[in-house]
Amino acid sequence: MKTGRTVLITGAAGGMGAEFVRRFLDNGDAVVATDTSDEALGALSSKLASRLLRVQSADITDESATTALTAFAAEQSGRVDVLVNVAGFFPVQPFIEMTAADWRKIIDINLTGTALMCKAVLPTMIGRGWGRIVNIGSASIYSGVKGQAHYVAAKAGTIGLSRSLAREFGSEGITVNVVAPGVTITPSAKKALPQEIQDAAIKVRCLNREEHAEDLVGTVFFLASPDADFITGQTIIVDGGNEML
Ligand SMILES: NC(=O)c1ccc[n+]([C@@H]2O[C@H](COP(=O)([O-])OP(=O)(O)OC[C@H]3O[C@@H](n4cnc5c(N)ncnc54)[C@H](O)[C@@H]3O)[C@@H](O)[C@H]2O)c1
Repeated sequence: MKTGRTVLITGAAGGMGAEFVRRFLDNGDAVVATDTSDEALGALSSKLASRLLRVQSADITDESATTALTAFAAEQSGRVDVLVNVAGFFPVQPFIEMTAADWRKIIDINLTGTALMCKAVLPTMIGRGWGRIVNIGSASIYSGVKGQAHYVAAKAGTIGLSRSLAREFGSEGITVNVVAPGVTITPSAKKALPQEIQDAAIKVRCLNREEHAEDLVGTVFFLASPDADFITGQTIIVDGGNEML
């Protein structure tokens, strides 16, 4: 197992992101955890109390912030080996009520922010023969979700982005894959998603229980590992067996 990598994780103070940070730290990787709030990152830092963890706030929709963040992450080793794009925002809003500004905001955070992070980090991976990008998508793209047209469109875009980057950077030994979770009971999901959506998700699964952030950790970690060296451009659905392709 590869260890001692530099791993950059966005959305790191969130429900899923914090679990991913913990897993890479446990593996002996140096993790740079980023999110929008210094306070939330400070709390994460105190909770995980690891000398391998560094935190830096950044808004991933701001290109100069993604460049500065990458420079911060690459400061010690000169590179970022693994980028995990977790940052996202998934409000429920009727399509007819969505303004152009609402639409752009959701596309900006979920799709453009992911692309900007890839663009900022790729130059530190190119020329080294090895790099891993794991983007968190959503299993919602397969059947759609009422009231989340902007979000589902953005997450579908993340797959197109990832496939294209997989093609463009495969010759550099860089893989780009997507993990698509089902409804996952994080504090944000509990707040954003009506209870009936949370309950329905359990009923339609083969494995009839709640999905938690911990259920996604293994797949993300695997895709970032040498065990997955020959997998790229793929989307792995982790939803307890609802969507099946
Ligand atoms: N929870 C679910 O049911 C579910 C299902 C499928 C996919 N997802 C996706 O999984 C990821 C994590 O979801 P979660 O439930 O942990 O949510 P979360 O809200 O706990 O985590 C997302 C984090 O992204 C951060 N973020 C938002 N905008 C940002 C910006 N502009 N710049 C930097 N950081 C920003 C937030 O501050 C937050 O900490 C998201 O991409 C989400 O869309 C979630």
